[in-house]
Amino acid sequence: MALNAVFQLILNLLVIYASSQDLPTNYEYYTSEGVKSGLSADQSFFTLNGRNISIYSGAVHYFRVPREYWRDRLRKLRAAGLNTVETYIAWNLHEYESGQFDFGSGGSEMEPFLDVAEFLKIAQEEDLFAIVRSGPFICGEFEFGGFPSWLLREDMTVRTSDPAYMKYVTRFFNELMPILAPFQFQKGGPVIALQVENEYALMHNKADMAYLKSLRQLMLDNGIIELLVTSDNPVRGKVGTIPELFLMTANYDKDPVAQLDMMRKLQPGRPLMTMEYWAGWFDSWGGRHNSKTAEVFAQVYEAILSYPSSVNIYMFQGGTNFRFLNGASDTDASDGNAAFSPITTSYDYDSPLTEGGDYTDKYYKAKELLEKYNPVKTKLPEVPTLVPKVAYDAIPITGQLPLGDILDTVSSVDSEKLIPMEKLDINHNSGQSYGYIVYRKENLQIQANAVLTIEGRVCDTVMVLVNGKLVSPWLENMSDLDRFGTWRWADSYLTLTEADLTNATLDLVVENWGRVNVVSYKQYKGLYQGAAKINDNELSDWKIFPLEFKKSWINKLGGWRDVDGASTGPSLLKATLTIEEEPKDTFVYMEEWKKGIVAVNGFVLGRYARMGPVQTLYLPAPFLKRGDNEIVVFEHFKPAEEVGFSTEHVYARH
Ligand SMILES: *[C@@H]1O[C@H](CO)[C@@H](O)[C@H](O)[C@H]1NC(C)=O
Ligand SMILES: *[C@@H]1O[C@H](CO)[C@@H](O)[C@H](O)[C@H]1NC(C)=O
Ligand SMILES: *[C@@H]1O[C@H](CO)[C@@H](O)[C@H](O)[C@H]1NC(C)=O
Repeated sequence: MALNAVFQLILNLLVIYASSQDLPTNYEYYTSEGVKSGLSADQSFFTLNGRNISIYSGAVHYFRVPREYWRDRLRKLRAAGLNTVETYIAWNLHEYESGQFDFGSGGSEMEPFLDVAEFLKIAQEEDLFAIVRSGPFICGEFEFGGFPSWLLREDMTVRTSDPAYMKYVTRFFNELMPILAPFQFQKGGPVIALQVENEYALMHNKADMAYLKSLRQLMLDNGIIELLVTSDNPVRGKVGTIPELFLMTANYDKDPVAQLDMMRKLQPGRPLMTMEYWAGWFDSWGGRHNSKTAEVFAQVYEAILSYPSSVNIYMFQGGTNFRFLNGASDTDASDGNAAFSPITTSYDYDSPLTEGGDYTDKYYKAKELLEKYNPVKTKLPEVPTLVPKVAYDAIPITGQLPLGDILDTVSSVDSEKLIPMEKLDINHNSGQSYGYIVYRKENLQIQANAVLTIEGRVCDTVMVLVNGKLVSPWLENMSDLDRFGTWRWADSYLTLTEADLTNATLDLVVENWGRVNVVSYKQYKGLYQGAAKINDNELSDWKIFPLEFKKSWINKLGGWRDVDGASTGPSLLKATLTIEEEPKDTFVYMEEWKKGIVAVNGFVLGRYARMGPVQTLYLPAPFLKRGDNEIVVFEHFKPAEEVGFSTEHVYARH
């Protein structure tokens, strides 16, 4: 190429660059002449501050992404051409004990994730508007649909105008709404709309319009002035909304034209908003890894954009159900929890940005389609560089604590009968929300071949130990779910011993796998549906140990023993990850293990299970430090010799 041709090329590039730099930002475009009005849905299209707008939103939940990465994820979202971020609000995290609030400095286990004001501030700095779906019920495949488990301690009908329930909603909204109010668009912030409840039509004949009205009133009383919406699948009609008070929005994953036609009929003369276009789907333990191809994703997305409808991609980045915060499905709530199906810790969702924040083909398809369809041209940031990932060398297990040692560090509660974890009078009378609960019976005479029967169902799985030795089967494969010890088997029984035992100790270690997030009914965790019996003798006077895996407790663990490679049954295992350089994102690889949880520097990353599909846990760099990092694993059945790492998720071969 001749020199002047090169100059010409550079000149052209500079002109293109300069003209893209001349474009207004989102906020300049919509607010440069001051703010007179918010998002209006009073005609068949949206306007914001008097100018036409299509909402191109993506879901990123602040409580599923480490705070250090909020800006990274939001900039990536904006760089794809979206103009709005959508988030739910998780009541169970913000009011972690009854009357104890945490919005980023409340001292709860999830404190670092909970500064929702900061999240909204960063969204605005990254030139994004925001939609806040503040529940109080959010579903979201989140623990109990975002409800705090302490609600279960009292008689109430959640998601209705039952005063016993509304008393707590009122207290929470009176804390939450004043935090959100200053971030509204007409107050100079990013929030252009808020959603009331979530898929409320799924309440069917229990749908209570007085309840929706009181939620709205509580919001208005606390200074909320922006547009209020509800969201449902359009086939459910108007069961979950009040058309005069809320704009109805639509949730679906396919047949966009039929869905939007339905919406138009339900709500003539008003703008169309797809609140959830499902970019992928979540995974459940024991199922397959769900995915949707980029082609299918793009076809439907394009049909929505060209219809045209405003649209929120659910999820734009799924993130992680850290700690014990996954929800669960249950297709038949009438039958105890027989059809229970808990969701994995990974909430990758096969979304445009992976759980670790990496780009996928869906990301680039979305970017391309938004360039084509968004008539409003604004300045976009460069697509950010990736956060590097590393597979650290595997680290050996160096210490072990058997269950007996573990329980020595936990205060027990005496109870005549078996009671669920929510009813323990601990945590300032808020009960136990998460983790495991151990029911111990000492001083038993057990005859040879005696049979233990647990009446009702276990919520959700139980390991049985006699004198510290595991006597119940392992839970390793899908088919093991049909054996003793799981939610699937009502009135389950097990032979305890082949020899006569005197002065024996029986431990029933029950794991809470996460509460159902779709329909909400009384769902306790632990053993409570009936008695436990040995032969025909009902057992009573239990010692109950809440095994909550709080950070402060994990970090105080000591007295580690040498590893007994032959041991089976629940125990804690310790390993040290020493990092010389700046820590990087990684994935903890647990395929050689059976079932349990992993904590890093005291923080529970989440659950692993050999049954899959996922065999890895996302470990973000901000959870690590230079020097020694303590990894603690609670393994139920048989530990592996080391903890491995990988640069991406590994899915089990099914
Ligand atoms: C806003 O959108 C509506 C509907 O598409 C259109 O009729 C109207 O001309 C638009 N207004 C402006 C100022 O572009
Ligand atoms: C369960 O899975 C393990 C490891 O994948 C395998 O070795 C074992 O045979 C399986 N057991 C059953 C009953 O399928
Ligand atoms: C019964 O077992 C416990 C330990 O589980 C022990 O402390 C106690 O001394 C034993 N009592 C008798 C009578 O053997």
